[in-house]
Amino acid sequence: MTDAQFIPENYSKNLDSGAFTWSSPSNIALVKYWGKRDPQMPENPSISFTLNDCKTTTTLRFLKKIEEDEFSVRVFLDGSEVPDFKPKILTFFKRIEAYLPFLKDYHFRIETSNTFPHSSGIASSASGMSALALCLMSIEKALSPNISEELFIKKASFLARLGSGSACRSIEGDLVVWGKHEAIQGSSDLYGIKYPYEVHENFKNYHDTILLVDKGEKQVSSTVGHNLMHGHPFAAQRFQQAKDHISRLKGIFKSGDLNGFITLVEQEALTLHAMMMTSSPYFILMKPNTLKIINAIWAFREKTKVHVCFTLDAGANVHVLYPENDAEQVGEFIKNELVAYCQNGHYISDKIGFGAKLL
Ligand code: DP6
Repeated sequence: MTDAQFIPENYSKNLDSGAFTWSSPSNIALVKYWGKRDPQMPENPSISFTLNDCKTTTTLRFLKKIEEDEFSVRVFLDGSEVPDFKPKILTFFKRIEAYLPFLKDYHFRIETSNTFPHSSGIASSASGMSALALCLMSIEKALSPNISEELFIKKASFLARLGSGSACRSIEGDLVVWGKHEAIQGSSDLYGIKYPYEVHENFKNYHDTILLVDKGEKQVSSTVGHNLMHGHPFAAQRFQQAKDHISRLKGIFKSGDLNGFITLVEQEALTLHAMMMTSSPYFILMKPNTLKIINAIWAFREKTKVHVCFTLDAGANVHVLYPENDAEQVGEFIKNELVAYCQNGHYISDKIGFGAKLL
């Protein structure tokens, strides 16, 4: 599929006003997306677990307007207007206008809320942009009822990607691949797809406990970080490594090799941060407590042989990943040893989920 196929034919219906509500989850990458080129195309394929409880609920209200020359949008977070969010939405609308020709026909009101606190340091762009993309697709479906379920999902992911790359992995669950990879049939740089191969029981119901080490605003945004991969001395090797990791994960998912999974996922997390530390300019997003948690996980794993590992986003928070079978033991370990490293003792218990829902 090329992006031209996401440009719709003439709509068959008229619509004066209405509202749609979607809830869409966050996701955690196992193989990381870090490095992109215009327009929001990934330099390497990535794969993520879709989360269940960390999500954004968005209601999009729309009302036909008379003049069709400009975008008209207001954004509300938890009931209060947030003019600061508007520029990002307008950039998003500009990027997707060619694929949704109705965008200038309506006044839009976006009402959004997250299940996780806005100031938790958890990025809301993946859940937020995917929820908005799905609301927009619901409008398109109302204008063009013949659109297939398959195209609806693909185009929602395609649009979400243009808002925030990782958002395209939040439409479905429980494992999603984004980015062209020869060994993954149907994979594309344009949108995420459900991981299409066998996954061992060991990886069902995987848990992700997010330890909130630092709830402050990130010093370097993901977008800036991605751009620092242009001309990065290790870029080519890094992009190749991510591809190799996806090939390796295929075998790991099939066989249920938890030790292989742990090694690969931790290597990905540390490579992501190694790229940041070796960019020009360089930066560090981990905090002292991030390292303390990593060391505590390693010591606990060594001592108990429990299959617990960590991954990191572009920030200081730590995602603790573990299988359902080990949930009790790891839960105790987190409470007894790791919570002390969290800001105000805050953490979020989540697990693998199955994607967005129309409410
Ligand atoms: C480290 O999707 O937030 O979480 O496309 O610029 O919005 P933009 O970036 P974003 O980058 C996410 C980076 C990451 C890794 C990942 O989720 O794959």
